[in-house]
Amino acid sequence: MPGAQIQGRVTVDSKEQAIAHFRRVRNWSECLCKPLAVEDHVIQTRVETSPPKWHLAHVSWFFETFLLLPYLADYKAFHPHFDHLFNSYYEQLDSGYWPRPERGLLSRPGVAEIYDYRRHVDVAMNRLIDECPDSDWEAVRPRLLIGLNHEQQHQELLLTDIKHNFAYNPLRPAYRDDLRGCDLAEPDLLTFTSFAGGLVEIGHEGAGFAYDNERPRHPVYLQPYRLGDRLVSNCEFLQFMEDGGYEHPALWLSDGWQTIGREGWGSPRYWERVDGEWHQMTLGGLRPLNPSEPIVHLSYYEADAYATWSGRRLPTEAEWEWAASTIPISGNFAESDRLHPAPAPTGEGLRQLFGDVWEWTGSAYLPYPRFQAAEGALGEYNGKFMCNQMVLRGGSCATPMDHLRPTYRNFFYRHERWQFMGFRLAEDAV
Ligand SMILES: [Fe+2]
Repeated sequence: MPGAQIQGRVTVDSKEQAIAHFRRVRNWSECLCKPLAVEDHVIQTRVETSPPKWHLAHVSWFFETFLLLPYLADYKAFHPHFDHLFNSYYEQLDSGYWPRPERGLLSRPGVAEIYDYRRHVDVAMNRLIDECPDSDWEAVRPRLLIGLNHEQQHQELLLTDIKHNFAYNPLRPAYRDDLRGCDLAEPDLLTFTSFAGGLVEIGHEGAGFAYDNERPRHPVYLQPYRLGDRLVSNCEFLQFMEDGGYEHPALWLSDGWQTIGREGWGSPRYWERVDGEWHQMTLGGLRPLNPSEPIVHLSYYEADAYATWSGRRLPTEAEWEWAASTIPISGNFAESDRLHPAPAPTGEGLRQLFGDVWEWTGSAYLPYPRFQAAEGALGEYNGKFMCNQMVLRGGSCATPMDHLRPTYRNFFYRHERWQFMGFRLAEDAV
């Protein structure tokens, strides 16, 4: 699966561009499912995950619901009940939705029928873009951009959910056995980069796609701070574990201490001992733990406890964004075709800001000042989740690179670990 298939920013300035990018994004979802057996498409091993075939259908439902039905006059829905099965969480739609924890209990529609559904939607979407009158294009274009970015989000979820399904299986199957690993090595020295702070601006403005939760751009006052120049590594997290990090309540937030006790956690997700040595489940199968790779698949609580143990803290999302705002986006994204975090490249200044792992920040996921959600059901996309979750920044090794921006705000609950989640350290400066 060469990365070249998914390169290029998603733009739909012209109809020709729109058709080309629609085809490219849709094709990539199907490429990601090619290594799967039919049986792999059906299971759901955790409430928060979804079966691969549900992802393939749901992203098609999104185009059907928010573009084809309202804007293609003679469009006929593929199936009368798919609106119920493949609506994820949109309460304002009359269809209602099938319970999320039970997505993996449906053997029908089968995988072949879901691919027929995709073809039906693809043909109609091409017709909509091609035939759409100028009077509708101003409304269709932004919805098309959301639909394409939405499918890219689900491409990452496809990979993380497949990983969870395969890690659940005691055979520890590899999703792909041709993924490159890295030589086992020790990480280089972690240093810190200083920022003067002051009154800065964060958030998206101007042309180019961004989700509503990245707007409006607004001023933020930052105290002087320092950021770790790379992500925290497996080697460093092992030192925390060997120092009894999971056993000292003084290191933990109360909710975190309750969580690790209830869940019985003593290491990050996907770690396991084989013949006394730590191994890690990857999309390439079970591998020996590489000390120099970034720590990944841990909760906010574990990242916070490590930061406390090390005498530092997690960065705020404003500190992260200000540091990232002048750095070109590059790094270990899905296009790198590793599908696993890689050791920090050598070099000066901040490294690994983009790609590898989503970085937990110490910031709660809240609306920016003067945030306004969109009208109607599409307004449910981000705004209604602005409670009890934390912000993560920077994208991961499973994110398409052209999906990311420095202003991008991902968000998850503090206890979740199945995404490619890691962290870097921060500290106050004088
Ligand atoms: Fe979705």
